[in-house]
Amino acid sequence: MEEPEFLTDTRTFYDTIATDYAEHFRDPMATRHWDRAVLAAFADIVRAEDTGPVADLGCGPGWISAHLDALGLPVSGVDLSPEMVALARREYPGLRFDVGSMLDLDLPDGSLGGIVAWYSIIHTPLERLPELFAEFHRMLAPGGHLLVAFQAGDEPLRLARPFGHPVSLDFRRRQPDRIAELLAGAGLDVRSRLLREPEEVLGESTPQAYLTARKPAADAG
Ligand SMILES: C[S@@+](CC[C@H](N)C(=O)[O-])C[C@H]1O[C@@H](n2cnc3c(N)ncnc32)[C@H](O)[C@@H]1O
Repeated sequence: MEEPEFLTDTRTFYDTIATDYAEHFRDPMATRHWDRAVLAAFADIVRAEDTGPVADLGCGPGWISAHLDALGLPVSGVDLSPEMVALARREYPGLRFDVGSMLDLDLPDGSLGGIVAWYSIIHTPLERLPELFAEFHRMLAPGGHLLVAFQAGDEPLRLARPFGHPVSLDFRRRQPDRIAELLAGAGLDVRSRLLREPEEVLGESTPQAYLTARKPAADAG
């Protein structure tokens, strides 16, 4: 089957900018206090419930995977962009990273105790999100947890010529309540919603949203 255009465009974009992206956001966790808090809470919950391995889907250069690993989670990363995966493997040789699309992963049903999608659902068109969240539901074990982070808002940001490269891509902002509705529609229980104001020091121009959801423990499907 032919690949949808948004996936080809996303891969081309990130393959092109991977090295500059990784350099620009190097050591991203040091000043990201809310990110660290959210990831720590997620790690605590998943570790305590011990429902299986964690996948960092849309892992980019791998630093969220590395952070989750340092928090004691059995984590691996997946990204659409082979260049991003190559960078992640080079930077974190002790961790596993694979190339793939989170819309279509060859993982058995119920095989993940946790999924983190950290600013990676932002390139999936709205009409494909139900399918993506159904995949998250399929891959999570009963009782497994999901964490998604994204820019909150209504209008997409078209990023053109990042770092001077001749590529462009839409960064789709979403309203947290809409994402929560779609997660619930996929059979996931939304457990938390955090919306914080943009931090100038981080170069943010929109509020940032973090949602967690859980696959019901009794739901074996
Ligand atoms: C804004 S970057 C975020 C990367 C990383 N999570 C971080 O926080 O730095 C978005 C990443 O999601 C990946 N991505 C987007 N759609 C994807 C998909 N369908 N499957 C796997 N990765 C995807 C892109 O290739 C890119 O590396």
